[in-house]
Amino acid sequence: MPLAARIQNAALLAKVMTAEQAAELIPVGANVGMSGFTGAGYPKAVPQALAARLAALHASGQTDARIGLWTGASTAPELDGALAKAQGIEMRLPYQSDPTCRKLINAGQMLYTDMHLSHVAQAAWFGFLGKLDVAVVEVVGILPDGRLIPSTSVGNNKTWLDQADKVILEVNLHQDPALEGMHDIYYGTQLPPHRLPIPLVKASDRIGQTHLQCDPAKVIAVAVTDHADRNAAFDPPSEVSSQIAGHIIDFLQHEVKSGRLPKELLPLQSGVGNVANAVLAGLNQGPFENLTAYTEVLQDGMLDMLRSGKLAFASATALSLSPDAAAEFKGNIDFYRERIVLRSQEISNHPELVRRLGVIAMNAMIEADIYGNVNSTHIMGSSIMNGIGGSGDFARNAYLSIFMTPSVAKDGQISCIVPMVSHHDHTEHDVQVIVSEQGLADLRGLAPTQRAQLIVERCAHPSFRPQLLDYMARARHSAAGLHTPHMLDEALSWHSRYLKTGRM
Ligand code: COA
Repeated sequence: MPLAARIQNAALLAKVMTAEQAAELIPVGANVGMSGFTGAGYPKAVPQALAARLAALHASGQTDARIGLWTGASTAPELDGALAKAQGIEMRLPYQSDPTCRKLINAGQMLYTDMHLSHVAQAAWFGFLGKLDVAVVEVVGILPDGRLIPSTSVGNNKTWLDQADKVILEVNLHQDPALEGMHDIYYGTQLPPHRLPIPLVKASDRIGQTHLQCDPAKVIAVAVTDHADRNAAFDPPSEVSSQIAGHIIDFLQHEVKSGRLPKELLPLQSGVGNVANAVLAGLNQGPFENLTAYTEVLQDGMLDMLRSGKLAFASATALSLSPDAAAEFKGNIDFYRERIVLRSQEISNHPELVRRLGVIAMNAMIEADIYGNVNSTHIMGSSIMNGIGGSGDFARNAYLSIFMTPSVAKDGQISCIVPMVSHHDHTEHDVQVIVSEQGLADLRGLAPTQRAQLIVERCAHPSFRPQLLDYMARARHSAAGLHTPHMLDEALSWHSRYLKTGRM
């Protein structure tokens, strides 16, 4: 397809230049808002050219040449990886999962602000994050009037394009032009005190327009790429993940029987990672029909469910697909366009909408404590893993908030159920169900001591259960108060023991 067919606006076609030339236009020290959400729809050429430029500046003695990097969520080696390897990021927000970023953050060499993903766009509008200088956004194409065909993720692109002083567009020829029409970009958000209700009442509702708007006068460069999103294949569901999925399906069936859920359930939200993907595989084999999803990321598992007909419709902000699933998606894009809508992350994760729709939130975690507080982000209290992502947006506002984890990590040396979590992301007030391969604890309506008994009985691994029961029994005798009994000098001793001995 000739370039002019993708870039139909003559003024913007005239701004086509190399990625290196475009990267030269990004000032050192700028805050840069880039597209990209869980490895989808991120710019691929300009960030690598920028990384090379920053590395050259460092080599010439300008060692503080860095940018502030804002995205939708995690990206890929060409973006986070390249800029981190070049030591080019001063401040990163709101979510990352790149190994080099993680290493630098945990070494104190990169600053990281971990934010609820629904908060990011409004925080930028409120002015809480400082000035956004440049937006770098991947698009599929540009219409004659300058409107943009969004790519495989929407994320914060609407906000970056609106807020940034200058815009660089990266047109990716690899992305299928038939994505056009799958997006729903809502331009009705306002700042307080002028906010109005968001008019969305079903996961499948369309409330916006199919294209992104951008003032062509702000566009300083258009770069062209031809590369696929880089996402790894998911592991086949492990026995542990399949057991977790089985417990969740039994629980949901019980809720239907008890009249607390309709037979087609309520819209599903499914978190990131292998465990979440395995749960979707379980649902695809399970008894439920005509399901819907109101989620953040559409992984392979949801595509399988759309194909099998188990899932009737899915709303998300990104398509995070393995190479095989991406090829299948491309081959059947007309089928999927009828059944998928991609929205801005401020809408896909919006608390008002999650609450209104009654979403069933299912997210993975690092560890939970006996009272049901959840740590989704930190290893041993101090080192970041990825970030909170959308888990808090969904957990606090969901109809049902489910957290899942294998009962042990690192070859059984770590218990994922501990006396006290080493970092709090979701408090006991936002956690209704905890599930491991051992079983499921339904915590609704229970007091802390009742929650503790159930979590340890149902979810802890047998090799750690006696230790946990012993902690609980001794805490009941020696704690200062008996509502949430803790022995403060022992509560985090499991983590310090692991750090000293390699076993909790
Ligand atoms: N202590 C120390 N390490 C632990 C641990 C614990 N309690 N629990 C898990 N880990 C380690 C695992 O060993 C594994 O390490 P490895 O990468 O060295 O093998 C790693 O953490 C990931 O664990 P895994 O069991 O493979 O889980 P996952 O792929 O399902 O990811 C989270 C789990 C929590 C890291 C991931 O879901 C996440 O980042 N969540 C936060 C964001 C979120 O919920 N987003 C969804 C909202 S839409």
